[in-house]
Amino acid sequence: MKNILITGGAGFIGSHVVRLFVTKYPDYHIFNLDKLTYAGNLENLSDIDNSPNYTFLKGDIVDGIFLNDIFTKYQFDAVVHLAAESHVDRSITNPLEFIKTNIVGTVELLNVARTHWGDKLSDKRFYHISTDEVYGSLGETGLFEERTPYDPRSPYSSSKASSDHLVRAYFHTYNMPVVISNCSNNYGSHQFPEKLIPLFINNIKNNKPLPVYGKGENIRDWLWVNDHAVAIDLIFHQGKNGETYNIGGHNEWTNIDLIKELCKIMDERLGRDAGTSEKLITYVKDRAGHDARYAIDATKIKDELGWIPSITFEEGLRNTVDWYLQNESWLNRVTSGDYQNYYENQYQER
Ligand code: NAD
Ligand code: TYD
Repeated sequence: MKNILITGGAGFIGSHVVRLFVTKYPDYHIFNLDKLTYAGNLENLSDIDNSPNYTFLKGDIVDGIFLNDIFTKYQFDAVVHLAAESHVDRSITNPLEFIKTNIVGTVELLNVARTHWGDKLSDKRFYHISTDEVYGSLGETGLFEERTPYDPRSPYSSSKASSDHLVRAYFHTYNMPVVISNCSNNYGSHQFPEKLIPLFINNIKNNKPLPVYGKGENIRDWLWVNDHAVAIDLIFHQGKNGETYNIGGHNEWTNIDLIKELCKIMDERLGRDAGTSEKLITYVKDRAGHDARYAIDATKIKDELGWIPSITFEEGLRNTVDWYLQNESWLNRVTSGDYQNYYENQYQER
């Protein structure tokens, strides 16, 4: 039996990783440590929360005393670290929260793992989940490779870049058994509806304007969240210490093309006339420092670990739309209360 600490497991990607590990590995006990910020939601795991090999721990990764207590009590063999402040727009409004959680929180976790593991590192693992945004912004050509120099532009990506550097520093300085992956934009079920795809699904459903930043020409490389979780499982078990793996879908879309595709699917699913949802598109003031293009070269993980995405974007997007339409109560609950204030502040001036 291994005790595995997954941080941020009540969030979007973390909940998919927790579910995969709890159901696939009955010999692991999965501990999900989450602060339950606006982005964390235990309802995301209601299907597995009675599993005998699953325990939820509410706490803050910035709290070193709390981390020490749970390490002492549960003697974790490994950490899969996803907890983070993850939304670029929020990082522009409030950078400090990103510094605390993403940088200080990561170092607190590294320190406590190092203290408890000591020299007995052979069967230990500290897996840090990161983003392709650390590499900065691409021009019309080229792809992010594992060796691409870091060039983060937003407070979010800068805080993630900083945490990546620190994780690598602990590998070189203290021999910590770390592995890192940098993934492109995820989409799928259980994503908080302030990120592009769930926000726009919710707005289309409610006939609200679709606020496209700038000209909608920015490009993102989209990956189905379940495929990210499978890649995380592979890297956790087969990745090499000290290595970085880029994960991406080879699936680049300009925002405006993606939004039009989404509008088309929503018209079909809601039984609306073709072209109805597109009329909601509204061009608004651009995001400050808006990165032009992200695109991942995922050759290394394909060649070394045999990972490729399992479904096409067209299938994944349809599955995703269906999930949000079938889980109206989830969507209604997460968009009540504070969400309304966030929405008004974020979009009133645009
Ligand atoms: P999310 O915002 O949906 O979830 C983050 C989770 O972390 C939430 O449950 C939140 O409550 C928890 N959390 C935040 N601060 C915490 C703290 N101080 N202590 C404990 N828990 C805390 O994020 P996500 O989209 O699921 O991203 C997860 C990870 O994957 C992040 O590290 C992010 O940088 C990375 N990532 C995300 C994407 C993407 O497209 N969403 C792509 C690549 C990498
Ligand atoms: P987002 O989902 O916030 O992810 P990231 O900024 O980490 O890539 O945004 C995806 C793209 O969609 C990004 O180019 C910004 C754009 N966008 C809009 O045009 N309007 C919106 O309301 C949001 C939230 C994002």
